[in-house]
Parts: sequence; C-alpha cells; structure tokens
Amino acid sequence: MRKASSQASLADPEDFDLTRLLNHKPRINVERQRSFDDRSLTSELSLSGAGAGTASRGGWGYGGGAMERESYESMYSPGGGLRSYCGTPASSTRLSFEPHPLVGEAWDALRRSLVNFRGQPLGTIAAVDHSAGEVLNYDQQVFVRDFVPSALAFLMNGEPEVVRNFLLKTLLLQGWEKRIDRFKLGEGAMPASFKVLKDPKRGVDKLVADFGESAIGRVAPVDSGFWWIIILRAYTKSTGDMTLAETPMCQKGIRLIMNQCLAEGFDTFPTLLCADGCCMIDRRMGVYGYPIEIQALFFMALRCALLMLKPDAEGKEMMERIVTRLSALSYHVRSYFWVDFQQLNDIYRFKTEEYSHTAVNKFNVNPESIPDWLFDFMPSRGGYFVGNVSPARMDFRWFALGNCVAILASLATPDQASAIMDLVEERWEDLIGEMPVKICYPAIEGHEWQTVTGCDPKNTRWSYHNGGTWPVLLWLLTAACIKTGRLKIARRAIELAEARLARDGWPEYYDGKLGRYIGKQARKFQTWSIAGYLVAKMMLEDPSHLGMISLEEDKAMKPVLRRSASWTV
Ligand code: GLC
Repeated sequence: MRKASSQASLADPEDFDLTRLLNHKPRINVERQRSFDDRSLTSELSLSGAGAGTASRGGWGYGGGAMERESYESMYSPGGGLRSYCGTPASSTRLSFEPHPLVGEAWDALRRSLVNFRGQPLGTIAAVDHSAGEVLNYDQQVFVRDFVPSALAFLMNGEPEVVRNFLLKTLLLQGWEKRIDRFKLGEGAMPASFKVLKDPKRGVDKLVADFGESAIGRVAPVDSGFWWIIILRAYTKSTGDMTLAETPMCQKGIRLIMNQCLAEGFDTFPTLLCADGCCMIDRRMGVYGYPIEIQALFFMALRCALLMLKPDAEGKEMMERIVTRLSALSYHVRSYFWVDFQQLNDIYRFKTEEYSHTAVNKFNVNPESIPDWLFDFMPSRGGYFVGNVSPARMDFRWFALGNCVAILASLATPDQASAIMDLVEERWEDLIGEMPVKICYPAIEGHEWQTVTGCDPKNTRWSYHNGGTWPVLLWLLTAACIKTGRLKIARRAIELAEARLARDGWPEYYDGKLGRYIGKQARKFQTWSIAGYLVAKMMLEDPSHLGMISLEEDKAMKPVLRRSASWTV
C-alpha cells in the first residue's frame, strides 16, 4: 500500500493500471451500517482540547429565527437514517410508489453520458448535446463538481463502481505536477475537469486534466478537492466499504487537500480566501473573497475528512488541526454571515469606525452599503447566510448552493436551517419562480454589472450565473428540505421541474426573473440537470439516502449567543 501511495504522486496516471486498483471489489453493505460517522465530533474535540465552548461567545450573534426544531430533530437520526415519517401526508408516499415516466428517460440519458477509460466507466460527461453547433468542451469533459449528482445517483441505485473508479483516478491526477505558466500549484489541488483521449500512437486511452490552466480566466477550482472528499464519504456511507478511504493513497489524498486549505498565512479569519470563479460560478461574478459556497463546502469537507482520517501519526496531527478550524469556522460563519430581520435591523443601526475588541461592528460595515432591495426582500420570518463577508464588505446576495450545503453539513444551526427554509417559502417567486432553483438573488445590472462582471455578456441580468436558474440545484434543495422536514417545498419544486425539464431537453440553466426561458446559451442534455432530478426523486422516495450527503449537528459546536454577550469575551 505504501508503494501504491508513493506511485500515486509520481507516476504518470496514464501508465498506471487502474484495473490493478480496481480488482478489489467494494463490499456492499446492504444494511447501511453505521460507519465512520459514529465518530462524533464531540469526541474528536477532546483530541486537541480545542474547546468548542470558546466559539460560543462573542460575535454579532444570532438574532434568532423561526423555531421549528421538532421537525428537524424528529426527522433526522444519527447514522444517516430517518427515524419516523409520521408527519408526512399520504400524497408524498404515493409519489414514491408511482415512478414518474421521466425517471426512466433520465436514467437512459444519464447512462449515455458515461465515459469509459480503458474499458471501465470513469465519470459522466458534462453534456451530451448534439444539437448545439459549438459545444466548447462540454462534450468531452468530466467535471468534478458536475459528477457529484451523478455519483449520488449511481450510489443510490446500488452501482458504486463508477464512483470508485472516479475517486481513484482523480486521486492519481492530484499527484500530477500542476503548472500555470511558470507557477506551480499546491500539491493537493484537484482538477476542475478531465477528458479521456485516445493516444493515436499507443492506441490506448489517456487522460488530460485541467487544473485551471485551460479554464476561462485561469482559475483553479477550490471546490474540486472538497467535493472529492464529500463523494468519498458518500461512497463509504452508502456501501459500508471503508477499505477504500482507509488506503494509504486515499488517506494521503485527504491530507494533501486539507494541508492546502489549512495552510497558515496572514489570515485573520478562519474562512478561506478565494479568487472569483473558483467554484460552480466559474467566472467573474463578484464572489471573490470569502464566498459562502466555498465556506460551506470547506466546512463539510473538514467534517467528512475528520470522519475518514485514520488517527495514525500523520492523521492525528491533521485531525487536531481540523477540529480547531471547525470550531472557529462554524463560529465565524454562524455569527457574521447570518442575516434575518433582527440582524438586518442591527446592521442598519451599526456605528462605524469602532476600534478595539469591544467593537460590535467588527468589520466596519457601513449601513449605507446595505442594498435597497434587501429591506423589502427580508421577511419577518426567515433568514440566510449572505454571499460574502470581509472588511467593510457584506455581499448580501442569496446563494442557493452555499445555503443548502450549510444545512446539509450542519454548519447552519437547526434554527438557522429552519429559517433558511422559511425564507425559501416566503420568497418563493424570487428564489424558485417557475423553475427551481435560482443560483443567486438578485441579479446585478447596469453599472454594477459592468464593474462586477467585467461586462460579461454571458452573465447579463437574470441569466447564467447572474440570477439564472439551475435545475441541478434541485437535488440540494430537496436534500435540505428532507433534513429540515419541509417535504412540501421539495415536492412543489420537483413538480415544477417535472413539468418542463424533459420537454425542454434537460437544459443547463434557465433565464429570466421567474426562470421561464431556456437559457440563452444553455446546453441541452446537461448531465447534472438530469442526475440532479434523479437524486431528488430517489431521496424523496427513500429519505434514508440523505445520510450519504448530510451530517448531523454536532452538539459540541454550540450556537452562538446574542450580541450582547459578545462584550464579555
Ligand atoms: C459551467 C458552470 C460550471 C460547470 C461547467 C460544466 O462552466 O459554471 O459550474 O462545472 O459549466 O457543466
């Protein structure tokens, strides 16, 4: 195993025989036994003595939202399963016994997107759209983030092989030396995408990966490594096969990713500083800084890594660093990224230019920078994590992915999770409209669009990443709904998607304030739109699948106190 591990970082993956790694077939655990997840963070916290209690004081504080604790707590049980389903109206269970005609069609389309490498399925292509003249790289590339819903669909359907192959092969790609011009990227970096090409001389398949050096804007995907860890945990959880995650190769891969994002620098915040375009929104959209999408994925990956790392010499040290960071990160995001009516009112009345540790307005946010739209948008019931927080800058836009992942990872407290779902319900027209789910809200336009996007013609208002609607997000919304016990929202969203998705040819995205129009440059037969729908359906049918992608709240990470308490720190 040691040998394999060192080979992984040195050898050219093209020459590395995948089948050798694959001859160990995963052990499928039909009963979905409790696995790594039994290790509670509470017990891990004692490792370093990092007191989560220290994280429970100070900050702007959580102003509180709607309290709907019962649904959360009665629905979700440790170990990934759902305890009871008693509150569910009959209609939802009916949905599960009558497979929708779209499901079969979606499976056929998903299978058509499978990519083989030397005879083994390795991933799914971003889009199988033969109608478009110019398909850029969508027809060849396997994007790491796009593969996530595919991976979940295959796992939920009891087909883990392609997921295992994907995990192993991307791990080998991580071992490549990565350069952009003369600059060498960090060891842990995972590719945004890769493609399988036939080597004309040798007649065998070879891989070409992109770590950002070919991407538009040359941005490295910060999310890829996090998604890789999250898929590995989903694989482990669903198959019960821990041997893969326990291989020295995987352990090393996890450590490298963690090392890269836990590296010490000049940071004063536990959040991860990122360039624009480093995540699903992979071009300039003003998400640089500390985007909620990355912070939520970072948090989830930290927690998943902690569950999978072995406490050997190298692993133990890493686990201690993770525990310390988790505590600081959850405190920071829960306190400073959170807005609801009360919190908004507090920020509105903030004093500025406060110096020293007694400052309430710690980042010196000018109340004048609160955008007008927010005062009307903010319901009395509900709240959410804002897009970004840094000195004198709060990006108040709503981002769906970050908020849903925050719920799934339990970065959001149960109260915050309920409040996020309240907001979705209260602002349905804005956040869902006629097709789920808007990537962010609201769109930026005019002069702001010019300066923020650099006049990007693809990101005009209510299109693409700028307030466009992405059906792939349906699976994340559904998962968040199940976790918070808000099945009505999930069913309503799925019904909307079902009415149009297949008829429209599974578009990549929709445009318009209500998401009524097929996106201007949207690909058809976009794989993650297809897989996202399937995952949403399968989770609703069997909510125990949620355990693959959800982590229960760790009681050791206490919710923050109200603002008044911060003075005593
Ligand atoms: C677009 C999306 C990106 C996705 C890629 C492939 O660039 O912004 O998130 O991975 O398409 O579908």
